[in-house]
Amino acid sequence: MYTEKVMDHFSNPRNVGEVKNANGIGEVGNASCGDIMRISLQVENDVIQDVKFKTFGCGAAIATSSMVTELAIGKTIDEALILTNQAVAEALDGLPPAKMHCSNLAADALHEAIKDYRNQNS
Ligand code: FES
Repeated sequence: MYTEKVMDHFSNPRNVGEVKNANGIGEVGNASCGDIMRISLQVENDVIQDVKFKTFGCGAAIATSSMVTELAIGKTIDEALILTNQAVAEALDGLPPAKMHCSNLAADALHEAIKDYRNQNS
C-alpha cells in the first residue's frame, strides 16, 4: 500500500534531529490524530543551508518530514514557501488516500519555520 519511496524514507529517514544554531523553528500538530512535527532550519542569505525534523507521528508523517527536508535544502526561502504538501506527497510517489492528511504537516511545518526566521530577522 505504500510506495517504495515512502518505505525508504520511513525506514531510513534523512535529516532527523535539530539544527544547531537554528534561526527558524516551526512546529505544527495534526488536529485529526494529535501527531506533531517540528522543523528547525539554518538560513544564510535567504538560502536554506540546513534543515532537520523531529516528528512524533505515523510512518507517513515521518516519510513526508524526511522528504520535505530533502526538498528544502539549498532552496531560497521564497522557493521553499511555495512548496506544497501535495508536492511533498508527489515526491514520494503518492500516499494512500487514507494517509493523505498525514502529508499536511510537512510543508506547513517548513513554512512556519521560515515565518519564524523572517520574524527574527526583520
Ligand atoms: Fe497522524 Fe499520520 S496518523 S500524521
